[in-house]
Amino acid sequence: MAGLAVNVDHVATLREAREYVNYPDPVSAAVLAEVAGADGIVVHLREDRRHIQDEDVKILRSIVQTKLILEMAATSEMIETALSVKPDLVTLVPEKRSELTTEGGLNLIVHGNAIAESVATLQNAGIPVSLFIDPDPEQVKLAHKINATIVEIHTGAFCESKAQRKKDRAFSRIEDAAKLAHKLKMGVNAGHGLCYQTIKAFKGLGEIKEFSIGHSIIARAVLVGMERAVRDMIALIKEL
Ligand code: PXP
Repeated sequence: MAGLAVNVDHVATLREAREYVNYPDPVSAAVLAEVAGADGIVVHLREDRRHIQDEDVKILRSIVQTKLILEMAATSEMIETALSVKPDLVTLVPEKRSELTTEGGLNLIVHGNAIAESVATLQNAGIPVSLFIDPDPEQVKLAHKINATIVEIHTGAFCESKAQRKKDRAFSRIEDAAKLAHKLKMGVNAGHGLCYQTIKAFKGLGEIKEFSIGHSIIARAVLVGMERAVRDMIALIKEL
């Protein structure tokens, strides 16, 4: 069965909507996600600190029992943070200040050398690195070339497309990328935009070892509570 890493960024988004309050607490959400059976906790420490703050990451490092996955841009500031926090996994993502959320995967054709340097620095410090890439065979091969431990395949295009043919095409790109990455002996994760409906499409795609899901789980948690929202997603993943 594939694992579930729960991204708690949007608990912090709700907190930051009122700058003078300290609730809801993403650390409490992480604890409840683990109680419900999550296999990991993900936070994206963005350059603009729009949701998760440095202090959250520090506290999570000492509280998280499963694994702490730090999503971040490959900047020198973030590399320093990762080296001091020592998460169980770093996922390198591209980051633009103006985007609502991570819009695309890393472009390893353009930024391969710089990313390779960050991968080496983190791995030399004992931190495995996942690269968030689009489902594109060229990106998968380049991720392998620069020694990524894991690739996380961007599922956003599949989740967002409405027309069935477009959706099918987007999904077969995910399938091909997952199979290629697995063949190249990299770990394969997937995420972005996945919800309680879109997750069902992944039935039988056993190459994917872990799903990284945030927004849909936190959105459901607002209505039914964190534990139930996480358990509902785990139940769907169990059926894949
Ligand atoms: N994986 C990566 C690399 C991401 O950047 C994000 C969004 O922060 C997610 C997964 C989770 O996406 P969502 O919040 O849409 O489930």
